[in-house]
Amino acid sequence: MTRMRTKRNIPARMEKCHERWFDMPLLNKGKWRQECNVSEDTPIWLEIGCGKGKFCTEMAALHPEVLYIAMEREPSVILAAIEKAHAMELPNLFFIRGDAGLIENYFDEDEIDRIFLNFSDPWTRQNKPKRRLTYRAFLEKYKFMMKKGGAIEFKTDNDELFDFSIEEFKECGFTLTQESRDLHRSEFDESNIRTEFEQKFADQGITIKRVVAEYL
Ligand SMILES: C[S@@+](CC[C@H](N)C(=O)[O-])C[C@H]1O[C@@H](n2cnc3c(N)ncnc32)[C@H](O)[C@@H]1O
Repeated sequence: MTRMRTKRNIPARMEKCHERWFDMPLLNKGKWRQECNVSEDTPIWLEIGCGKGKFCTEMAALHPEVLYIAMEREPSVILAAIEKAHAMELPNLFFIRGDAGLIENYFDEDEIDRIFLNFSDPWTRQNKPKRRLTYRAFLEKYKFMMKKGGAIEFKTDNDELFDFSIEEFKECGFTLTQESRDLHRSEFDESNIRTEFEQKFADQGITIKRVVAEYL
């Protein structure tokens, strides 16, 4: 009963935060800076699969110099992220409700500076590697959208997905740095922001894997 009521409320609650997201994000392709009222030299950081928004809201607050765009396909999940951003009144954080499979419709060549993939669905049990957000077809799309000198920051709890992703990054010509198979006990943890899933896995004693794939 409660679930039904929550679902029915999604459009009304989205509407209350309408300045945080775009009805037709594909109209922003090639002009995100203009549409979000930032200067043409403002870096754009994109998070794909942002979940309920802990990471994107903390990152946007920490980096007011950046235009941060968070993408998520599940309506009830992105609503939680949007409401969080709205309550925090973050002027530099916007959302796309959509699927990464269509990402080339949203961003133009060289438009993005950095991409974050946090705890992407592993698709290991179903053995569907082409659905992984680090599959080479996705990486080629990201390369097209990303400026040279940009990077993808990737974190996961899943060993199989991590190994797979390392190979895909290499295959697509990325240079790998800051690789860690136990992020929380590494030198890179100091500046790390934990996501919702990351905290959950850490509480279960699961080590977190991370790598930065530079597009040079
Ligand atoms: C395991 S959750 C991780 C959420 C968050 N990044 C975190 O670390 O707490 C993966 C999220 O990615 C979203 N997602 C998966 N595939 C996606 C896709 N193709 N396009 C957009 N979002 C996607 C899911 O809906 C889900 O919210």
